[in-house]
Amino acid sequence: MCGIIGYLGSKNAVPVLLDGLKKLEYRGYDSAGVAVIRDNKIQVRRVKGKIRDLVESLKASPLEGSCGLGHTRWATHGRPSEENAHPHRDCSGTLVVVHNGIIENYLPLKEELIREGHVFRTETDTEVIAHLIEKHFKGSLEEAVMMAIRELEGAYAVAAMSVRDPDKIVAAKTGPPAVVGLGEGEFFISSDINPILGYTPRVVFLEDNEMAVLERQGVRFLDFQGTPLSKTVDHLSWNPIMIEKKGFKHFMLKEIFEQPQVIRDTLEGRISQGSGKVYLDETGLSPRATKSIERVLIIACGTSYHAGLAGKYFIESLAQVPVSVEYASEYRYHDLLLDPRTLVVVISQSGETADTLAALRAIKKAGGLTLAISNVVNSTIPREAERALYTHAGPEIGVAATKTFSAQLAALALLALYLAQAKGRSDEGTFSPLIQDLLRVPHKLERILTEARRLEDLAQRFLAFSHFLYLGRWVSFPVALEGALKLKEISYLHAEGYAGGEMKHGPIALIDEDMPTLAVVPKDRAYEKMLSNISEIKARSGHILALAFEDDTEIVNYADEVIRVPACSPLWSPFLTVVPLQLFAYHIAAKRGADVDQPRNLAKSVTVE
Ligand code: AGP
Repeated sequence: MCGIIGYLGSKNAVPVLLDGLKKLEYRGYDSAGVAVIRDNKIQVRRVKGKIRDLVESLKASPLEGSCGLGHTRWATHGRPSEENAHPHRDCSGTLVVVHNGIIENYLPLKEELIREGHVFRTETDTEVIAHLIEKHFKGSLEEAVMMAIRELEGAYAVAAMSVRDPDKIVAAKTGPPAVVGLGEGEFFISSDINPILGYTPRVVFLEDNEMAVLERQGVRFLDFQGTPLSKTVDHLSWNPIMIEKKGFKHFMLKEIFEQPQVIRDTLEGRISQGSGKVYLDETGLSPRATKSIERVLIIACGTSYHAGLAGKYFIESLAQVPVSVEYASEYRYHDLLLDPRTLVVVISQSGETADTLAALRAIKKAGGLTLAISNVVNSTIPREAERALYTHAGPEIGVAATKTFSAQLAALALLALYLAQAKGRSDEGTFSPLIQDLLRVPHKLERILTEARRLEDLAQRFLAFSHFLYLGRWVSFPVALEGALKLKEISYLHAEGYAGGEMKHGPIALIDEDMPTLAVVPKDRAYEKMLSNISEIKARSGHILALAFEDDTEIVNYADEVIRVPACSPLWSPFLTVVPLQLFAYHIAAKRGADVDQPRNLAKSVTVE
């Protein structure tokens, strides 16, 4: 998605804006630009391409000014081009805007503005905002922005500045996120916290229908009627070091290696090593309210959906509570048959996914009891859900989710244990070994990661293939889906995840020597049936790469190659079996020269529907 950044302070804004745009790159983009105010003029520089191209352009002819806006564009309306890159100006060139989102009624507004004499230069929806502000400008920038946004339909996080009301940046938000940074005599507006982290830990998250007016003496917050608002200032715990690559070639690889610590951090303080008791008081789910839950509905997209599928098996096995898992983008069209005893768990690492947010809002309107599992404190989805269970994965920069998936598994494991505990189904006999095994997962992951090199060698041998099948049953079925998603989204190769039992209902027709299968085969209740799957595939010249427990002596009689992971309670096997699949996908993509951290066409957070 697009990224916006604004700076008002005593420094030259350009280096701050470029630094911020680099930290927004992970959102995916095709062009970029900056604008500053200098000597009562607005100077703009835009490129079609990457931030590095913008840096080169600015090296050739520098810009300077202490009030500025920057933008990374992910084209929605209007092809990627310099002309369509933000910031966008009004007719007079004395005002610029940057915008993330979609203005759904931009065409009729554009036609009306053209009739009124405005001259448009671009194909974008955003340019309409600049001309609307110009149309309503009578001296106060915030009043003109207020009048302009009242005419807009759609979703937007917008920031504007004008030489006619200088030393001011006005931002407005409905939909996509916008966060204000409060430094010492310097102020920021950004699409997320990453560009602000290095300058100040003090931030304010704008809610929908709120504005921020950044001035030299401070920041004022208003609603869209101009009523002043008092906003809570949050102190961020993430530090900029967490965002750097720390010697890894890609953020994705660094984040794969962070998974043991991420699981420790997410379990920390929520599970007692001694008694095995699980504490989720932070969610506001009292033991009594939890005991009355009779059904769980999980809503999510993409990798978070796959985590939700694994969570289904955790909860059903431990708490004996039926769970259904739905794609958020689909669930919005369902008849919402909810009752007060259904807990709706909304999973979103970014907390900003538009489809998931829309489903959450519909569920709340239907009276559902909601709990968000998210990785970004105070992001929109956990803010709007009544309850939140935060993962502690730290900022995930790679577009492909890895450590946040593992953290979501940990949060769902905690929720399953908490539900079982509240329902009196945590008898010492079965519970304690499971909890001890869960606490050992990080150590077992570290053992897998020490042998990560093997996956690089294996990837080398599979580089020639263009199609892959991933199979799993029971709790390994979501792992198969997730493994396939990882490969396709960063290497652009075709990969399909399938429930093993479905092979004979169609997919086995695909099998030949050009279609390798990755089979996830921990020693669990589906093990024998998975061995049958492997035999059927072998009989049709299919090449099998099996993920199996290290103490499995049978699998070598079936699979062509075996990747081994430490044995664990079958229920927790997704924590371990997903990591070799992440590494396999990573190395294939890296060897194919793909843009691993910013795969084409993808965004880290899909904040438009
Ligand atoms: C996964 O690698 C992708 N980045 C994508 O499927 C992602 O999981 C999905 O867009 C949901 O994002 P969220 O968890 O931030 O809601």
